[in-house]
Amino acid sequence: MKEILNKENEEYAYKCFEKTLELGFKFKLNNDVKEKQSKKQQINQLLKIPLDGIELNDLLKYFSEEILPYCTNFSNENFMGFPDAGNSVAGISGAIMSDFLQQNLINSSFCAPIATYMEIAVIKWFREILGYKIKKINNIWDVGGVITYGGTGSNSIALLLARENFKKDTMINGVKNPENYKVIIPKGIGHYSIRSALMWIGCGDNIIEVETANYRYDISALRETLLKNKGKIMCVVSYVGDSRTMTIENLKAVYQVVKSVDNNIWLHVDACHGFSLAFSEKLKKKIEGIELFDSISTDPHKVLAIPYCMSALLIKDPEKFKLVTSTSDLIMQEDFAFGQITPFIGSKSWVSLKTWFMMQNLGIKNIGKLIERRCDMAQYLKKQILKSDHFILMNEVNINSVVFVYVDNKNELSKMNINDINALNSQIYDYLLKEGKYYLHRFPIIDNMGAIKEDETIVVLRYMSGNDNISYKDINNMLTHIIEVATKIKGENK
Ligand SMILES: Cc1ncc(COP(=O)(O)O)c(C=O)c1O
Repeated sequence: MKEILNKENEEYAYKCFEKTLELGFKFKLNNDVKEKQSKKQQINQLLKIPLDGIELNDLLKYFSEEILPYCTNFSNENFMGFPDAGNSVAGISGAIMSDFLQQNLINSSFCAPIATYMEIAVIKWFREILGYKIKKINNIWDVGGVITYGGTGSNSIALLLARENFKKDTMINGVKNPENYKVIIPKGIGHYSIRSALMWIGCGDNIIEVETANYRYDISALRETLLKNKGKIMCVVSYVGDSRTMTIENLKAVYQVVKSVDNNIWLHVDACHGFSLAFSEKLKKKIEGIELFDSISTDPHKVLAIPYCMSALLIKDPEKFKLVTSTSDLIMQEDFAFGQITPFIGSKSWVSLKTWFMMQNLGIKNIGKLIERRCDMAQYLKKQILKSDHFILMNEVNINSVVFVYVDNKNELSKMNINDINALNSQIYDYLLKEGKYYLHRFPIIDNMGAIKEDETIVVLRYMSGNDNISYKDINNMLTHIIEVATKIKGENK
């Protein structure tokens, strides 16, 4: 049967794979972020069940003509909204390889023998560069990390650990009074996954948002909240690169204030983005103190140019995974079965292989250089924004994110209406999205720095990139394009 890979159809399958690669290249190297805008009506067409099947070559042709033009190319140099470029050659190679090899990281001795050791190695590398202690690894409980499919999964496991650490055996007994399992986050910048995870693990919507200043905890407000809720807080979450502004928390101050109030509170840092700074000798001091936290979420698929999906949750004390161990005779009770310490996930593909490939290929030093360049690009954009009369900078620019708004003339800000600024920036975003040439992100944010008006909600545009193809010229062209688009919209609005 030629549809199932075997020795007889090797040549046919090889040609199909070549064609697949060709399409992948064509897509990734395309000049547009997106060729065509998809329409809602397409859903109906796509819902039809394939009854008779289509030969793979014909399917690839159909896919190339009818689907690919509607896909968004995160690797295009004009895609400046999110960091996840997914364009490391070694990373893609590792991704293809892992799909080919079909290793199951739930068990080691039978399903994924060498793969398990390589996954352990990736976790150990991350622990080491972030400053966690490294134990001699005799079994899975010495590893101190698990691989998940994303930052959301890693944050969820961190909260589960925090819950068990706070009240042992909640796994067995259930959550009795959810209001006594509170989690503190910084107001206005947190990623939704923390609130959702708290609800997913049965602790209800018991998030406390603490006031922020410059997109970091207001430390005295944090102290006050901790004292007021003493005994009812299981976890405090900080960000090393929050989803909106990429600001780095004042980690040591958070650590000290939390520990001074209650030593039993689990300190989690979501460093999905900011852990990338640890690769650079020059930048790693910006995240000093991260090693004090009980757990760290990292998201290589955001910052290491590898394809989706791969995240790693690291914990300071590897033994704590015993709090959430799964025991079943379907997961082997062997020294190195990741299935025992990875909540929520059963069969797991070898997603860490793409990171292994990327890291082996570049080495820490060259990854560090890439990260430095990304931060330099963001600083360059910041400078252009500060120089221009048309743009207002909304964040400090700690990592690779530049948050800004377009205005007619920033010297006449006092005469402008915030609703008009918000409407214009929303229109700019919609225009760009429809046009498909550039992509920037848009979201509302509370003006924490008083850039326009303190505490007002401002609709901002955001440049953020992990795409190492972006050049200074691309950044200049993007700003020029926004000015042109804004002028056009203003003309049409008249
Ligand atoms: C700070 C932060 N944490 C967690 C996540 C969730 O990561 P993922 O989308 O990989 O689940 C994101 C996603 O953007 C994020 O920005």
